[in-house]
This record gives sequence, C-alpha cells and structure tokens, in this order.
Amino acid sequence: MEVVRTNDSSEIDFRKKFELEGKVIIITGGSGLIGKAFAEAVCQYGGSVVIADIPKAEPRDFAEQLENKYGRKMVGFELDVAIREDVMKLRDDVVKAFGRIDGLINSHQNKTARFFANFEEYTDEDWDAVIETNLKGTFLTCQVIGGWMANNSGGSIINIPSTYSVVAPNQNLYTGTNLGCPAAYSASKGGVMALSQYLATYWSTRNVRVNQITPHGVWNNHQERFEQNFSGLSPLGRMSYSHEVAGAALFLLSDASSYVTGHNLIVDGGWTTW
Ligand SMILES: NC(=O)c1ccc[n+]([C@@H]2O[C@H](COP(=O)([O-])OP(=O)(O)OC[C@H]3O[C@@H](n4cnc5c(N)ncnc54)[C@H](O)[C@@H]3O)[C@@H](O)[C@H]2O)c1
Repeated sequence: MEVVRTNDSSEIDFRKKFELEGKVIIITGGSGLIGKAFAEAVCQYGGSVVIADIPKAEPRDFAEQLENKYGRKMVGFELDVAIREDVMKLRDDVVKAFGRIDGLINSHQNKTARFFANFEEYTDEDWDAVIETNLKGTFLTCQVIGGWMANNSGGSIINIPSTYSVVAPNQNLYTGTNLGCPAAYSASKGGVMALSQYLATYWSTRNVRVNQITPHGVWNNHQERFEQNFSGLSPLGRMSYSHEVAGAALFLLSDASSYVTGHNLIVDGGWTTW
C-alpha cells in the first residue's frame, strides 16, 4: 500500500481506508462460527474470500453461497492446515484463481473428542492433535502464504490466540457445567501469540503486517449455567456474538491499520481488564 505523507486529515477519505475492494483474503476455519462472520464482513467491504476448511465443514458450499450473494468470485478449499502439501496447494490455487493474496486470517482450531478431559488424564494423542492443528497449522499457513505475500506486494495476517493465552482461566466459570479450558489449548495459543509477534518484526520491512485478534466467549448455544457464570464474571455482563469480533478484522485487514503491526486486539468485553 502507498502511505500518504501528510498530516492534513482533510485530504483523507477515512471510509475508503476501510474498503477491501479487489482484495483477496484467505480464511482458514472459514466455515466456523467466527470464520463465517469474518467472511461476511470482508465480502460486505468489497473483498473476495477463500474459505479454507476441512471437508466435513463444507467450505465449497459456503463459498458458493457467498459468490451467489455478492456476485463476485469466491473460492472454497478443502484442507488440513497441518499438512504442508495442502497449504501449498491452497496458495497455488488461490494465486491461479485471483493472481494475488492480500490477507490471511487463521481462524481454525481443533477440538478432539476428549478435548475437555482433566489435565491429569490428558492423552499424548489429544495434546499432539491440538498443538498440531492450532500451532503447526498456523506456522505452515504463515510460512507458505505469508511468505508469498512477503515476496510479492505484501499483505495483512491476522492470527487468533485466546483469552487463555493472555491470562489463566478463572475455573469458577465452569462450575456446574461439563466445560473447561484444556492446557493444550492454552499452550497452543501461547505459541500462536509468540509466533505472531516474531513474524511482526521479521516481516516488518517486507510490507507484511502481522496482528492478532483475541475473541472471548462467543455465544454458541451454550448451557444456561455457563452463560450465567460467564455474565457474572464479565465486565460487560454478557457473552459476545461473532459479528462483534469481525469488525476488528476489517480494521486490521484494511489500510485503516496501516501503522499497526505486532498488536493483539482483544475483543473480550473487558474480561482481562480486571
Ligand atoms: N469462540 C470463542 O469464544 C473463541 C474465543 C477465543 C478464541 N477463539 C478462537 O477463534 C477461532 C475461531 O473460533 P470459532 O469459535 O469460530 O471455532 P469453530 O470451532 O466454530 O471453527 C473452527 C473451524 O476450524 C476448522 N478446522 C478444524 N480443524 C482444521 C484443520 N485441521 N484444518 C483446517 N480447518 C480446521 C473447523 O472445521 C471449523 O470450521 C479459533 O482459533 C478459536 O480458538 C474462539
């Protein structure tokens, strides 16, 4: 992007700064709860999205719906983010389809069947599966797709850590529910944070900005008791909705955030403030 060298704000079209017209944004986990909100937001601001997800999540169907709704080319791509060949094919197919990549949002996560098992009972297999998808998957997409952007005209990467890589879980949240926050999840997301900060300076002179969004408590038909517990502990007194996370992505993907890199934009209703 061209930086306008002026302090005369009257020369600036601030609405235009948020536009994503003509931009191509890859969203891993794009068929997920928040991934779908990211996709809608990008499309409404004029961009084209690549919905990259596992076959079970039917990324092609969602991309087709968006293509029909917005009348622009969108792509659905089936992959496992932890497999290098899949990620390389994703990059090659997107470059072939659009000739460019402007942004990457890493919105995938792995929840195994025994995801909520107690720490003492966590198996090697479950630990590895969570780290493999959440951390290695983010490493691979950043390396392969971010590397392409660094070698071409730059771009914006958004990685998604978690409240529980920023602070420890308040275990009272889970009282009376069968939910919890596994250490494997926190550890994988801590790795995502460190990797993101590393890449922010590593690619700072190559026109690739690397930022993070930390969502928190996005409502998804949770048990009533969980929602009550959550509301009692939250400064804003409620859970959030996926569209409330997506606005942060519009800022970080667009020229509105041209001087922002290495940042973690926390969308947590104040949870980590007190
Ligand atoms: N929902 C929340 O409250 C919350 C809070 C903090 C952080 N997050 C993070 O935000 C991101 C999005 O969360 P969400 O609620 O939309 O999750 P979600 O479970 O609804 O979506 C995750 C998506 O990742 C996909 N996926 C799983 N394994 C994959 C793989 N190997 N390769 C490619 N895709 C794969 C799934 O199919 C799914 O569509 C996740 O990284 C999550 O950890 C969510």
